[in-house]
Amino acid sequence: MTTPSFTDLVGCALPLQLAGMGGVSTAELAAAVSEAGGLGMIGAAGVPIDMLGGMFETLEATGEPFGVNFLMPFLDPETFKFAAGQARVVELFYGDPDRSLVEIAHAQGALVSWQVGSAEEANAARRAGCDIIVAQGIEAGGHVRGRDDLETLLNACTDLATPIVAAGGIAGPEDVEVAIDSPASAVRIGTRFLAATEANVHPTYVDALIAAKRSDTVITTEFDVGWPNAPARVLRSSLEAARKSDDPCATVGEQQWPVQRFSTLPPTKDARGNVAAMPHYAGFSVDGVVKRQSAKEIVEELCRRV
Ligand SMILES: Cc1cc2nc3c(=O)[nH]c(=O)nc-3n(C[C@H](O)[C@H](O)[C@H](O)COP(=O)(O)O)c2cc1C
Repeated sequence: MTTPSFTDLVGCALPLQLAGMGGVSTAELAAAVSEAGGLGMIGAAGVPIDMLGGMFETLEATGEPFGVNFLMPFLDPETFKFAAGQARVVELFYGDPDRSLVEIAHAQGALVSWQVGSAEEANAARRAGCDIIVAQGIEAGGHVRGRDDLETLLNACTDLATPIVAAGGIAGPEDVEVAIDSPASAVRIGTRFLAATEANVHPTYVDALIAAKRSDTVITTEFDVGWPNAPARVLRSSLEAARKSDDPCATVGEQQWPVQRFSTLPPTKDARGNVAAMPHYAGFSVDGVVKRQSAKEIVEELCRRV
């Protein structure tokens, strides 16, 4: 049996998935990516069910497929089941592939994707019944699961017989072309969309991304308040600012709640205070972040050669 491509399986026009990115990948950003032909994703970690329901209204209005990302350390089973009844794809990251979760989602009608950081984990995801496997290389922005670079990981995933999505460090159309000419049939993009006008990203963070190069990123476990022992790739400047910062370093939200120094929360538009000391997650793909753009423009640029 031939392995279906990502686009055939999901039903979107272009082989591009937006990475679910906690509070920064808003429903507006996901809807714009879906409308442009990719697979829009929202991040559901810590999002209450009623708020998620409101986000689904925005996404369903596009008439296009969308997905919901969950982080295993913070998984709420009720929210997961609810999302699987509404979204084309539910996705999990940062935990051992779990057949019982895959079965719950399948029973609700969703496809299941698992983001992995090693060939062993990719095989475990396949055995658990996942429909899509996202191979994340260490070039990725945000939390990094494994130790292999993307090319090494993809080369170790040739026999999976499951659609593979390549993630980590994909900065421009040439990278997309290379990734798709590999065991992967689609790409997953995080950092590039942080400079999308629809993303909920503080302007200080966007400016820092525009100014940065891949050599300005570093993997650290120091941003550990709320999620210990989980390495993440960030701009080194934000780590240095956090080391020097007072505690709390900033405030966020309607009530301007305090944010502890070294919290895992990235700076959203509503952040105030020493925003530069909040984690500025960024992958090697920061090389491709050169200006603010609409999500549609980013999708069109990245998919120019495929
Ligand atoms: C700001 C930010 C937040 C992220 N949050 C999540 C998340 O909530 N769930 C998840 O599975 N991955 C998350 N990631 C990692 C992405 O899924 C993906 O692996 C990564 O963005 C790909 O590399 P790139 O940033 O170079 O495109 C995040 C990445 C960034 C940059």
